[in-house]
Amino acid sequence: MKAIRIHGYGDVETLSYEDAPLPEPGAEDVRIRVHAAAVNPVDWKIRAGYLAAMLPHQMPLTLGWDVSGVVDQVGADVTHLSIGDAVYSRPDITRNGSYAEYVVVRAAEVAAKPGTLSHNEAAAVPLAGLTAWQGLFDHARLKAGERVLIHAGAGGVGSFAIQLAKWTGAHVIATASAANEALVRGLGADEFVDYRSQRFEEVLDKVDVVLDTIGGDTQARSIPLLKSGGRLISVVGNPDADALAAVGASGGVFMVQPSSESLGRIAQLIDAGTVRVLIDSVFPLSETRAAHEKSQTGRARGKIVLEVVPAQVDAGL
Ligand SMILES: NC(=O)c1ccc[n+]([C@@H]2O[C@H](COP(=O)([O-])OP(=O)(O)OC[C@H]3O[C@@H](n4cnc5c(N)ncnc54)[C@H](OP(=O)(O)O)[C@@H]3O)[C@@H](O)[C@H]2O)c1
Repeated sequence: MKAIRIHGYGDVETLSYEDAPLPEPGAEDVRIRVHAAAVNPVDWKIRAGYLAAMLPHQMPLTLGWDVSGVVDQVGADVTHLSIGDAVYSRPDITRNGSYAEYVVVRAAEVAAKPGTLSHNEAAAVPLAGLTAWQGLFDHARLKAGERVLIHAGAGGVGSFAIQLAKWTGAHVIATASAANEALVRGLGADEFVDYRSQRFEEVLDKVDVVLDTIGGDTQARSIPLLKSGGRLISVVGNPDADALAAVGASGGVFMVQPSSESLGRIAQLIDAGTVRVLIDSVFPLSETRAAHEKSQTGRARGKIVLEVVPAQVDAGL
């Protein structure tokens, strides 16, 4: 099969479009014919070797931990999935990923693809959607009526987080640059801060929850905005425990985990029209280098998708 693999850490030139062995599923796995994958910042962080100490991978490594496709082989112990099922998944990041024609995934990490979405759209959901879900609900325990500040509301995680927070009945505040104000408000943000022209901590009232996708100075300036009892949940760096304690708040950093159950809940919200998928751009698998360059700008509006089976083929055209 064709795959995008790396044989060592480095820049985009290390991404090689090449032949790779067809992966064989174990007893608890399924093999998915990949129709689309998505690019996440973690992909180029792993490619560059930034996460090598935390996530040791064997080379050659197939990158990519978002997939939408069709089950084409089922492991001996798998009972709830069948060949031909349309599925989506955020596979285990310690295994080979989905920048390929086929990927092997644990059956427990797979959910039915949202029926209303194309494979390109569905591939954009799992990693960013699960991150938003787990950050807001599993970690921050966001409740109706609470005020939540979501940084990078126009990004992959932020665009899902705004919609999920709104659905739960929270008052949603999002940061982005001015060019993305309409987009972010259209996703459901009640308040918007242009982080380039305003200091959010000077213009906002206190909040119950911060979802931090930026870290550093943005994270530090968010802590004094928290109410007593507030929570700052980060996906990029551990918040300062003393600064949190000084305002009577709590928080931490987490790494998204695969979850077919939460993917199933997200699929229901998508099919009900409550959550939509924001696609920045679609690249053929063979042009993954350009897709990484785009992601590395930090300016994507929603998700960057890698198309493996052409959309016209999926649409039967
Ligand atoms: N721990 C985990 O499990 C986990 C999971 C998912 C993601 N992450 C991490 O979370 C971060 C965000 O991921 P992502 O997929 O959402 O990234 P992304 O889609 O690449 O984010 C791009 C967005 O960031 C916005 N942005 C850039 N700088 C900003 C700032 N200072 N303030 C507000 N918005 C800003 C941009 O908006 P403008 O163009 O308007 O500036 C752009 O829309 C990445 O570092 C990623 O690795 C971690």
